[in-house]
Amino acid sequence: MRIGVAGVGRIGAFHAATLRDLDFVDEVVLADAMPGAAQRVAGELGVAHVESVEALLDSGIDGFVIATATPAHAPLLRAGVAAGVPTFCEKPVAGTLQESIDLVELENATDVPIHIGFQRRFDAGYRRAQEAVRSGELGFVHTIRANTSDQSPPHASYIPTSGGIFRDCNVHDFDILRFVTGREVATVYATGANKGADFFTEAGDVDTGAAVLTLDDGTMVLVGSTRYNGGGHDVRMEVCGSDGTIGVGYDDSLALRSAEDGVSWPAGPQKWSFMERFLPAYRAELTAFADVASRAVPSPCTVADALQAFRTAEACELSRREGRVVSMSEIPDVPAVPATPHDASV
Ligand SMILES: NC(=O)c1ccc[n+]([C@@H]2O[C@H](COP(=O)([O-])OP(=O)(O)OC[C@H]3O[C@@H](n4cnc5c(N)ncnc54)[C@H](O)[C@@H]3O)[C@@H](O)[C@H]2O)c1
Repeated sequence: MRIGVAGVGRIGAFHAATLRDLDFVDEVVLADAMPGAAQRVAGELGVAHVESVEALLDSGIDGFVIATATPAHAPLLRAGVAAGVPTFCEKPVAGTLQESIDLVELENATDVPIHIGFQRRFDAGYRRAQEAVRSGELGFVHTIRANTSDQSPPHASYIPTSGGIFRDCNVHDFDILRFVTGREVATVYATGANKGADFFTEAGDVDTGAAVLTLDDGTMVLVGSTRYNGGGHDVRMEVCGSDGTIGVGYDDSLALRSAEDGVSWPAGPQKWSFMERFLPAYRAELTAFADVASRAVPSPCTVADALQAFRTAEACELSRREGRVVSMSEIPDVPAVPATPHDASV
């Protein structure tokens, strides 16, 4: 397959390197809006490049990977679908809630495959947690703790267009929460603080966030995030039930040190970035995209899924701004499909 990648920043260059090494990929072609960027990264990786995303879509690619800054996701997803090219788009699916809703309508109206990049769905630990919930081995689940902590902030220019910590970072937790539990969020209360660089406050953002979510079956969820986790990159989930508790991300690389005497676990070395933490998951999701692109399997993460994670992030931002509990019913969603006369009779 010939795969085009738009955006060659942190994740775009990383995806391009991963794709280059996958068996099903014959050629990787890069494009970026910043003059010279695609050529530079293509030279480093030994792959091809073209001068623009338009040229990329015209160049006969079998799959289109969008890894640009978030505001470009929606227009490029539309361009990919208009060109009839199966499209993979990084999270969050769009920069705004309305764009995300509009993209669900696009997804419903096209048969061009679309796959959104929530790689935790391909992580072995989260899959095991999903199985533990589904099989009933945990009994009834009452509490979940989830966190996404980056070791250090991204470059300052990333923050103003990122959408804020809940849409950019915790959106991963909101998606995987639905994946693991099969439940929807009912209410949220969120807050945040900025004790690090001033560019977070200047962008209306925070560098550390916390939220309490209640799921539609009454499960309590405590969510945290920070851009300053000195101990390392730390992504975890604990699922606590009446018959057992399971933890995702608890291995020797866990980014903390025990305060107890004589405890040497976790032995390290810790991971420092999302690339190290999720390399096998990124590989698996891009391999899955090949099957999605060849229409062998349905999308493992649709725009409709991505919208629900985005709505939770939107509710957290509203809650943080207004300092109150927000019900998910306050957050716009795709219009409900009217019941047909047949549906109404049953
Ligand atoms: N799944 C994950 O774990 C993960 C991790 C990091 C980033 N991301 C997502 O990936 C996206 C990119 O993040 P990043 O950290 O690589 O950002 P980045 O700032 O390092 O790179 C973004 C790149 O996009 C390019 N770009 C911007 N607008 C463009 C356009 N219209 N056409 C072509 N190129 C364009 C920029 O020139 C830049 O090279 C973000 O949406 C982010 O949320 C996902």
